[in-house]
Amino acid sequence: MLRLLSAGESHGAALLAILEGMPAGLKVDKGFIDQELKRRQSGYGRGPRMKIEQDRVDILSGIARGKTIGSPIALKIDNRDSSIDKLPKVLAPRPGHADLAGALKYDFNDIRFVLERASARETAIRVAAGALCKTFLKEFRIVVSSRLLMVGGESTESRMKQKIDEARQKQDTLGGSFEVVAQGVPVGLGSYVQSDKRLDARLAAVVMSIPGIKAVEIGLGAESANRMGSEVHDEIFYSKSKGFYRKTNNAGGIEGGISNGEPIVVRAYMKPISSLAQPLDSVNIITRKPTKAAIQRADICAVLAAGVIAEGAVAFVLSDAFLEKFGSDSLSQIKRSFQGYINSL
Ligand SMILES: Cc1cc2nc3c(=O)[nH]c(=O)nc-3n(C[C@H](O)[C@H](O)[C@H](O)COP(=O)(O)O)c2cc1C
Repeated sequence: MLRLLSAGESHGAALLAILEGMPAGLKVDKGFIDQELKRRQSGYGRGPRMKIEQDRVDILSGIARGKTIGSPIALKIDNRDSSIDKLPKVLAPRPGHADLAGALKYDFNDIRFVLERASARETAIRVAAGALCKTFLKEFRIVVSSRLLMVGGESTESRMKQKIDEARQKQDTLGGSFEVVAQGVPVGLGSYVQSDKRLDARLAAVVMSIPGIKAVEIGLGAESANRMGSEVHDEIFYSKSKGFYRKTNNAGGIEGGISNGEPIVVRAYMKPISSLAQPLDSVNIITRKPTKAAIQRADICAVLAAGVIAEGAVAFVLSDAFLEKFGSDSLSQIKRSFQGYINSL
């Protein structure tokens, strides 16, 4: 079983993660992890924080002479802005954030303690762990990528940028949607035998856990509810060269909670960023008097970055399901097991 735990606050000393369950013998390239971190920081509409932070990973354990050794992998990204103890108290909860519910739940008189951990800054370390998962999957020619679909209802690059410029001018924010595709996933990952083994459920949970994501679809997703069965289900064909195959992929590569050998397609929808420069109405948590929500340094739109985070999240779930099926101790043993399975199909 692959397990991931993270720690760290947005303006704390560092972000940390422990990834346990990666097999021994996997060659790790720190440069690739840093490249993925850079991708997460990019995109039109990002805020000033992304200019301050230039994320680089430190690998503190689990790797020796450039390869994994089967022990937990500890990852660290230092925060350049680590001013957590100097930052002012926050008393006006921002609608759309964990601010109010978090302060009531943990009995805080300062929302700073909520937003420091609820912040999407934490996703940087998830991307680092996801890059290790992508590295593992590449050994089996499984490639996970993403693309931006919409920003604020617009789908061409120039209109999206225009929409972001408009939002910036109005001191507003935007959401949008993106798609993650995993190519080369073999048939048979995940299972119908228990609800928590279903690959679609696991993918939906991990993508939904990215801050701001409000809906996740697999394949045709919500649109399949509007069509006849004959227009939705992918017919099955067989040829000696291809084996079993489909001419369509409305299922998004998963049927009955199991990968079916077609590309896995996950689409996600993100709400607009919750920190507005022109803040919404709120209530002071101490005085209980009306006020405007707190203003925090913020992105205007981060859908492209959310796609990069989702790639790592999808890679994590696929790696976990892959290790379940083919063994999890040593890369060379897993390769033998994988090849035997592929030959048997
Ligand atoms: C990459 C990324 C960057 C984000 N940047 C910001 C930001 O700068 N300011 C902000 O208020 N919210 C930002 N968010 C979104 C919030 O974190 C999100 O609205 C908040 O966590 C509440 O979402 P939830 O209800 O889905 O948890 C970002 C999200 C992602 C994925």
